[in-house]
Amino acid sequence: MKNNYDKIAGYYDQLSRLVFFKSQVNAQIHQLGYLPKTGRILIVGGGTGWILEEIAKVVPEGLHLVYVEISAKMMEISKERAVAGNIVDFVNLGVEDFSTDRPFDLICTPFLFDNFAEERAAMVFHHLDTMLRKGGLWFHTDFDLTVNMGKTDGRKHDNGTWWKTVFLVLMYRFFKLIANVEASKLINMKPYFDAAGYQVLEQKYYYRKFIQSVVLEKTDQKTWVKSAGR
Ligand SMILES: C[S@@+](CC[C@H](N)C(=O)[O-])C[C@H]1O[C@@H](n2cnc3c(N)ncnc32)[C@H](O)[C@@H]1O
Repeated sequence: MKNNYDKIAGYYDQLSRLVFFKSQVNAQIHQLGYLPKTGRILIVGGGTGWILEEIAKVVPEGLHLVYVEISAKMMEISKERAVAGNIVDFVNLGVEDFSTDRPFDLICTPFLFDNFAEERAAMVFHHLDTMLRKGGLWFHTDFDLTVNMGKTDGRKHDNGTWWKTVFLVLMYRFFKLIANVEASKLINMKPYFDAAGYQVLEQKYYYRKFIQSVVLEKTDQKTWVKSAGR
């Protein structure tokens, strides 16, 4: 099975903190300021489910969360989380096989798309887009290689991104061995959000701009609003 985190589920969080300190966590926690007080939320690829406890700290009741996670081991750990008064439906499936006829108010994809080759990334993006209501929010968190790539004198310069490329190559090799991760390069999801009419409400960077955290709103406008922090 592709993208199977079962083998690493027991120590995934420790590994993440060891390598990225709390950058991956902070990038997701910051977005929680945009949580609605009530509503339906889809979380895809939430890993060990620590985000459920963080959500409960911000909004302790009134949310209906649907937690779609392909790894059975990750799901087992997630089910032990303290979710306060929120309702959580745990769905142990690949998101490709998940569907609903009730649209969501918010979709969270924390470090999900970096697992996918372009074809699956496109397919999953469009699938999720159909499940989000107009005006709904999307919390997208992932690695980013696009910042600092600038053209200053007509030629393309790599202003400090080389280490990120090397880092990613090593990560992909490791996760291919451990989790049979399908991807071998990072897909830039921005064109997908642009084309589908998403507008950036806030964009923040972590870990020397290797990690991006974006809050997007589904609108009819096909524009990409530049963030103040870039
Ligand atoms: C890189 S981990 C990130 C975990 C968590 N979001 C975090 O930041 O700690 C990716 C997670 O996505 C899950 N995943 C991968 N492909 C998936 C799919 N097609 N559908 C649902 N979950 C998936 C994996 O099982 C894994 O738990």
